[in-house]
Amino acid sequence: MNILITGGAGFIGSHLVAYHLAKGDTVHVVDDLSTGQVGNISAHFKDPHFQFDEANILTWDGLKEAARWSNRIYHMAAIVGVKKVLEDPRAVMATNMAGTERVFRAVAEVNPMTQIIVASSSEVYGFNTKPAFVETDDIVLRSAGRLRWCYAVTKLADEFLAYSFLKKSHIKVVIVRLFNTVGPHQTGKYGMVFPNFIRQAVHGEQVTVYGDGSQTRSFCNVDDTVRALDMLASTPAANGEIVNVGNDDEISIGDLAKLIIERSGSKSGIKYIGYEAAYGLEFEDITHRRPVIQKLQDLTGFKPRWSLYDTIDQLIALERTTGLK
Ligand SMILES: NC(=O)c1ccc[n+]([C@@H]2O[C@H](COP(=O)([O-])OP(=O)(O)OC[C@H]3O[C@@H](n4cnc5c(N)ncnc54)[C@H](O)[C@@H]3O)[C@@H](O)[C@H]2O)c1
Repeated sequence: MNILITGGAGFIGSHLVAYHLAKGDTVHVVDDLSTGQVGNISAHFKDPHFQFDEANILTWDGLKEAARWSNRIYHMAAIVGVKKVLEDPRAVMATNMAGTERVFRAVAEVNPMTQIIVASSSEVYGFNTKPAFVETDDIVLRSAGRLRWCYAVTKLADEFLAYSFLKKSHIKVVIVRLFNTVGPHQTGKYGMVFPNFIRQAVHGEQVTVYGDGSQTRSFCNVDDTVRALDMLASTPAANGEIVNVGNDDEISIGDLAKLIIERSGSKSGIKYIGYEAAYGLEFEDITHRRPVIQKLQDLTGFKPRWSLYDTIDQLIALERTTGLK
């Protein structure tokens, strides 16, 4: 199979690359390396089944040719991470919406039969205060002006773009609402909690919890995420569907900090930092973000294989050997 992966040098994208090359597929990556890293994919540079173009999805002149060639496209390229979003919301709006529109337009024009997986996010549930989210839940967002929400707005726009192209051009697209994904290659540079806690605990630094630590999250190992995305792409009934992808175990961020300290045998303490000091006035956090994954299970039979303990141990071991990015 011919697979195009936008954002394929990033965290999730690079795992998709390794997974599909191992299955014997041919993989073409486009990535502008804005947050992605060459080191995530350089091991494949000599593989004749792998091709990499360093280019911006907004301007890449190889897009139509690659879309024509592909049997499947994972559209992962986006500007991600709270810090990045607050730093340059204009770039977030441009990349995350115009980039997706450009991919759908190319597919509609040259190869509507290719299978697209487009990455949306649990962020689209916004301020909905339900303890766990089902795909049919209402979206609750703040009024414009709170720039923290612009990432969620772009991902919601991507979902509407997908439905618009599906209706008018009959493209084949599955919209995946990814919940917190963790694993090797994830960088802590842009505010991701898991790699930061691991690094701080392993090096005996204070583990910094933003807010009071009572906010809860569900973490899915990227191995499970990649498997779920492949399963969805291989399931015709998933076309035109919005599907939560994640692990439905839940933990508070305060307890996560304690667990990582305990499992790494670290002497680190925990330092609580207010959101305003961490991110500025713009930031508002979400209390809970747990997926209901019934739809994913009904469509594909997917079950997460990685427990939170196993993922923590994997990343502690990695930080001790090669170091997380
Ligand atoms: N990691 C998560 O927990 C999570 C949760 C929800 C949604 N997502 C979504 O999954 C996708 C992948 O996220 P990730 O965690 O791997 O992030 P990432 O930042 O590691 O990957 C995104 C990749 O896109 C590339 N990119 C950015 N702008 C580009 C452009 N204009 N042209 C070409 N490439 C560009 C970056 O260089 C990077 O390699 C994103 O769409 C993200 O919104 C991720």
